[in-house]
Amino acid sequence: MRFHVLTLFPEAIEGPLQASMLGQAQRRGLISVTVTDIRDYTHDAHGTADDYQFGGGPGMVMKPEPVIEAVESAIASKSCCSGTSHANAPPPILIMSPQGDALDQRLVEELAQTPEIVLVCGHYAGVDERVKEYFGAREVSIGDYVLTGGELPALVLIDAISRLVPGVVGSMENVVQDSITSGLLQHPLYTRPAEYRGMAVPEVILSGHHGEIERWRRRESLRRTLEKRPDLLQAADLSPGDLDYLESIGYMRLRCTTEQPQSDLPGHEG
Ligand SMILES: C[S@@+](CC[C@H](N)C(=O)[O-])C[C@H]1O[C@@H](n2cnc3c(N)ncnc32)[C@H](O)[C@@H]1O
Repeated sequence: MRFHVLTLFPEAIEGPLQASMLGQAQRRGLISVTVTDIRDYTHDAHGTADDYQFGGGPGMVMKPEPVIEAVESAIASKSCCSGTSHANAPPPILIMSPQGDALDQRLVEELAQTPEIVLVCGHYAGVDERVKEYFGAREVSIGDYVLTGGELPALVLIDAISRLVPGVVGSMENVVQDSITSGLLQHPLYTRPAEYRGMAVPEVILSGHHGEIERWRRRESLRRTLEKRPDLLQAADLSPGDLDYLESIGYMRLRCTTEQPQSDLPGHEG
């Protein structure tokens, strides 16, 4: 999986990517991340990458020429589009923006299908609208809040997509059992010591009885999903046994989801 990140602040991308599993994944050749400094594509001796808004208003806007030329250069680069089955198809170009499609696991899985992705990090008031128009780029948001730049959102995307690349996380079993990915929230996790400051690990998971442990974990997973994210239960793959258990703790599966506001779901507070 190849990522091309275009930013005015390469150091904000490069540092975090050296650590932990993503650092290892790069060293092992499972993913590659090429970071391009948009300022290298500016047209004047001062490296001017932003300018005042036409029409007036606060905040500087990232100029279109350096961004468009940096994207073109990334697409044309040898590391992009070569040695993949999509040799002639340009990679998707994603602009990080609070106005974009909301990033969720479904979108992460969709993006993980492509062998390479170009990520454009905005800064200041944002990127000149013509960049999106020129490439037919897709905007992606990591949530309903506004950050100072697109570097953290790009890192979030790289991290979430990379976890789905075989070999990046120790076992794919971990990945499919994760919260959200599995359709539910994960059961509580414990490790040694079995008792700490008077807090004991539930006996059942020390029992060594695999069937009982699995049953307990499934029930805990269902219980905490009902408590914290009852909305997930509507689409979850639930067995008749799961439903019996959920009903015993107060859940009633709604047959018609379209007209039911979230706040009316059992277990939803506030
Ligand atoms: C201060 S924001 C600009 C927000 C812009 N003025 C608006 O109202 O849509 C600067 C940059 O941070 C990035 N950014 C901020 N919040 C983001 C979010 N929630 N998701 C993705 N990118 C975000 C984008 O790249 C954006 O261009």
